[in-house]
Amino acid sequence: MGWNDWYEDRCGVTESDILTSARRLVSTGLANDGYNTVVIDDCWMASARSAAGALVADPATFPDGIPYVARQVHSLGLKLGIYESAGTATCAGRPGSYGHYTQDADTFARWGVDFVKFDFCHLPSGANPAALFDQFGTALHKADPRIVYSQELPVHAGSAPASSAFTNLIAASAAISNMWRIAPDENPAVAAGVSITRHLEADLPLTPYASPGHWNDMDMLLAGNTAFRYSLSEQENQADVWAMESSPLMASGDLASPASVTVLGNKKVIDIDQKGVQGKLIATEASVDVIAKPGSVMLVNTSSTRAGVHFKTRDQLVNVWGNGSPARTTSGYLNRSLPAYGVLMFTTAKAA
Ligand code: GLA
Repeated sequence: MGWNDWYEDRCGVTESDILTSARRLVSTGLANDGYNTVVIDDCWMASARSAAGALVADPATFPDGIPYVARQVHSLGLKLGIYESAGTATCAGRPGSYGHYTQDADTFARWGVDFVKFDFCHLPSGANPAALFDQFGTALHKADPRIVYSQELPVHAGSAPASSAFTNLIAASAAISNMWRIAPDENPAVAAGVSITRHLEADLPLTPYASPGHWNDMDMLLAGNTAFRYSLSEQENQADVWAMESSPLMASGDLASPASVTVLGNKKVIDIDQKGVQGKLIATEASVDVIAKPGSVMLVNTSSTRAGVHFKTRDQLVNVWGNGSPARTTSGYLNRSLPAYGVLMFTTAKAA
């Protein structure tokens, strides 16, 4: 769990953006809730390596250097993440790691980095992506086995769960890393509901690959993001789906927005995410998917029109949002009508 600057700051990110967000994670209480890692995404590095081939922070935007940022972040009780790409350049065109895997892994460890996000842009033609991601992971583990390895290898094969090229890279990812992206980047031109349900449909078949310490990563939470501007219920829906799927909760919005803090800080939702098991599809009624894991159940209308759901349950259901009053009717049936792309999530307990 943590915060990443990308969808808020893109290539304009600065040292002060990172430190401001780190302080906000603490002052809002989100750090206490578990959001303890601050990730510097692309564009933190200067346009050229040093004469010795080492990565150098951009002197204009990170004037005090990454070890300084790491010390500041650590002094707040947080962890620092950083971005690189397996290819010759990052996606935004800064120096890539190709040809420098061991040197860069050692640099990150020496700087005090706790988490590395490794991308696939600009791989040389003919390269074997899975072998390269394994090589970097091995170098990182050797440099410091505590560093979390987050990567995007599967997206190299697109995002089609039915394709064997994609699932092979998911399986390879589960063997070598802690979290791996299962979908391309969020696109502001795609409506929130469509994007959230697409991520869910892509992720459901991948349940067998997730296990404690190894998670399918649906990308970042957009609560409070100023470029995407999800409505409050869309922000809640995204958090529900990410939590039921036990995706990493990596926020990428403006932490000064009170709504984002309320959405990100919902303890019931965080508990569901951190349960240690990804939800499974247990039923589909018309266009409504019913997905569950021990202690919780979620209903998702995957269509663009309103749909009803009517199911029998012996459990006591409590909506994770709102006033926490029990939702089950006395007849033992839950009847709900969900708007287009609507999501409802409940904690479940045996009825007395
Ligand atoms: C890719 C990744 C994004 C972000 C950018 C940075 O598009 O998928 O998450 O890291 O690169 O350039």
